[in-house]
Amino acid sequence: MPTLIKNGTVITAADSVQADILIEDERVVLIGLDLSSEGAQVIDAAGKLVMPGGIDVHTHLELPFGGTVSSDDFFTGHRAAAFGATTTHIDFVIQPVGGSLKEGIEAWHDKAAGKAAIDYGFHVAITDLRDDVMAEIPSVVDEGITSLKLFMAYKGLFQVDDTTLFRAMQVAEEHGLLVMVHAENGDVIADLTARLLEEGKTAPKYHAAAHPAMAEAEATGRAVAFSGISGAPLYVVHVTCEEAVEQIALGRAKGFPVMGETCTQYLFIFEEDLAKPGYEGAKFVCSPPVRQPKDAGVLWKALAEGGLQAVSTDHCPFWFEGGVNGRIAGKELGREGFHQIPNGMPGIEDRMPVMWHAGVGGGRYSANRFVEIACTNPAKIFGLYPRKGTIAVGSDADIVIWDPNREHTISAATHHMNTDYNVYEGMRVRGWPEKVLLRGQVIVDGNSWLGAAGRGRFLRRKPFAEVL
Ligand code: URP
Ligand code: ZN
Ligand code: ZN
Repeated sequence: MPTLIKNGTVITAADSVQADILIEDERVVLIGLDLSSEGAQVIDAAGKLVMPGGIDVHTHLELPFGGTVSSDDFFTGHRAAAFGATTTHIDFVIQPVGGSLKEGIEAWHDKAAGKAAIDYGFHVAITDLRDDVMAEIPSVVDEGITSLKLFMAYKGLFQVDDTTLFRAMQVAEEHGLLVMVHAENGDVIADLTARLLEEGKTAPKYHAAAHPAMAEAEATGRAVAFSGISGAPLYVVHVTCEEAVEQIALGRAKGFPVMGETCTQYLFIFEEDLAKPGYEGAKFVCSPPVRQPKDAGVLWKALAEGGLQAVSTDHCPFWFEGGVNGRIAGKELGREGFHQIPNGMPGIEDRMPVMWHAGVGGGRYSANRFVEIACTNPAKIFGLYPRKGTIAVGSDADIVIWDPNREHTISAATHHMNTDYNVYEGMRVRGWPEKVLLRGQVIVDGNSWLGAAGRGRFLRRKPFAEVL
């Protein structure tokens, strides 16, 4: 049966208009005024905003990392995402060391099989660029994967050298792939980490000392330069600091095809949180680390004004008290030294509400810009637009009915992520999803879960990256 969303205010990146939306066969088929409800199931959105489902292009579900595995799988992570108004995400396949990209891709398809409850795509992270892997890169496009990720940090684990990065960029440029980088100087970090540990500085707060902002800025500038030399489009993930934003701006000013995202935690959580009493700071350990409030100010401005193109989460949750009650190991692994704390934070459920509350509610950007950085630009950059990321005739009916007046206090006691803490614990937000539709089906209605494992679809993405 068709579904008609009536009486709402439709918010896209471009417009805010009063309109009804008719959905048939999973897609938006008509947008207009006073559409007839005959034969349709009606959702009354009077007084509500109607926005595209969120797209989180940076997540790590069931990622083996730091001696354990991130604690959300493709079902728990998807259900949590949906409760937070996100209906599409892109996860990082990790090439197994010694293995092929195809093996990594198959492993990630296996993780999602039978579990996925929202739509999803993959990026491929290259960790071991042998000649045979170089030759394999173009084939990932046939798998519906049009972005590669390289880590300039995590020495001895994921880190690649400059030759690898530059060669990957050249191949990417030839085959219409977008290169993403984790931009931190891993050699500097490894050296500083060793020195801090020798000095007995093992607490979570030293994680920040081991990852200075300039180590991020230097790597960002290097990747930007490689983009300029090779012509390969570049997307810098999880930008955290003023100095890195400056490097991206420099590249863009020179006309290099460079884009960047930040992640929600860098706007709300700061270095002082790493120094919380006891071992509490471990909750906030991620790489690059959380920075200073002045950096958050620069990031907000860049999101508002176009210096950064998107906001994602880098959702990579671990238990704070893992290894007990059937839980997999978590943050407790680093009690003897910050370098052993699994890096990452939960956030896939919180992104849309906190970015609305502090961004739109806080007067930092408009509702349209919110949709642009959280939905539309991610879809454009990663080859999903206009199927995803907007509300238009022909688009998938991934739609959120948003109550701009509903208030909610974020808490681990009520969230749906598979972890025992929430980094926004106690934050009262105004603006909350009332209903969430995935391809026309209501999957979240208030506090009720109506979705199902296995309903989410793998998205084969287009073989180009739009540079915004
Ligand atoms: O700390 C983080 N960011 N963990 C996930 C892996 C990554 O670097 O994106
Ligand atoms: Zn990273
Ligand atoms: Zn990440």
